[in-house]
Amino acid sequence: KKINLAVVGATGMVGRTFLKVLEEKNLPIENFYVFASARSAGSTLTFNGKEYTVLELNENSFKDYQIDIALFSAGGGTSLKYAPIAAESGCIVIDNSSAWRMDPNVPLVVPEVNPEDIRNHQGIIANPNCSTIQAVVALKPLHEYYGIKRIVYTTFQAVSGAGMGGWSDLEEGLKGQAPKKFPHPIANNCLPHIDVFLENGYTKEEMKMVEETRKILHDDTLRITATTVRVPVFNSHSESINVELNKPFEIDELINRLSASEGIIVQDDLANNIYPLAINATGHDEVFVGRIRRDESLEHGINLWVVADNIRKGAASNAVQIAEWIIANMM
Ligand code: A2P
Repeated sequence: KKINLAVVGATGMVGRTFLKVLEEKNLPIENFYVFASARSAGSTLTFNGKEYTVLELNENSFKDYQIDIALFSAGGGTSLKYAPIAAESGCIVIDNSSAWRMDPNVPLVVPEVNPEDIRNHQGIIANPNCSTIQAVVALKPLHEYYGIKRIVYTTFQAVSGAGMGGWSDLEEGLKGQAPKKFPHPIANNCLPHIDVFLENGYTKEEMKMVEETRKILHDDTLRITATTVRVPVFNSHSESINVELNKPFEIDELINRLSASEGIIVQDDLANNIYPLAINATGHDEVFVGRIRRDESLEHGINLWVVADNIRKGAASNAVQIAEWIIANMM
C-alpha cells in the first residue's frame, strides 16, 4: 500500500532534515505534503527533485488530504492542538515535541530499543527528547544483560537542538551579536540551562531525560539524575553517562555487547586518540560510544561517552524509522 505522508513544521531545523532523511530512504509515498505556519505558507521546498508549496496547517488539513502518516516538528503548542485532530481523521502522528511523550496512551519509542510499544498506539506516537534517544540506544544492551541500578547523565548539547534560533545565536554570537534565543551568550560559553527551570531546581530538559528513560526502558524505579548543558557546538550532542549496573561484568564482554547492539558504533582506540566526536557524528544515524571504562568508585560501575547527531538520530531519523516500522509491521 502507498501512503500519503505529511511533514508538519517542514521549514524548521528538524522539518528540513525530515525531507533529507526521507529522500535517502525509500518509503512507499503516494502523495507528499509540507505544512508550516502562515509565516512561510506559499514558499517552496524541494523533495526528491520536485518543488512542493508549503501549506498553512489548519483543522481540516489531515482530512482534506487524507494523510496516513504525519511527522510533526512544529513545537509543543502545535502538537497539542493538531495531533488529536489528525488522529481523529485516521492519521498516525509521529510527534517530535515534548507535548505527548509522558501521556500513558502514547508510546514513546526508539526503534532499536522498544519498537513493540508502537503496537499500542492510539493515533499518536512520541519521539523522545534528542538527549534521551542517544542515551537509551547506548544503555539498551547494558539494561538487557546486566540490569541498571542508577544513571548519572551530563550532557554537552549543540545549539541546533534549539532550532533555527539557537543556531543563529551561536553564528551571530561568534561575530559579537547579543543572543536572541538563549538567556546568555552561547559563543565561548556553557549554559547549564536547557528549557525552563522547575520547582525542584532541575531544568525541564533534565527531567525529560529522567522520565523518558524510565518510560522507554519500562522501569519506573530506575534511579537517574541529570545535568544538561548547552555548549557552543553547532550540531551533535555529546553525553557523559555514568551507570551503576546490578551485576558484575567483564569490560571486554561489555564492549562486545555494545558493538553488537543495533544502531551503535563503538569508537574506542585510545592509542590512536579515537573516541566519539560531535564533528564526526554529524550526518550519521548511528550512536557513537567510546571512553568505555570501569567506574572504580563503584562495585559495578561503567562510564561512557556517547555522541550522536541530535537533528538526525535525535529527531528526524528516529521519527522516520518509526514510520518505516509502522509501514512494515502494521499497514
Ligand atoms: P514557520 O516557518 O511557518 O514559522 P524551528 O524549531 O527550527 O524554528 O522550526 C519550527 C517549525 O514549526 C517551522 O517549520 C515553523 O513554521 C513551524 N510552526 C511554528 N508554529 C506553527 C503553527 N502554528 N502551525 C504550523 N507550523 C508551525
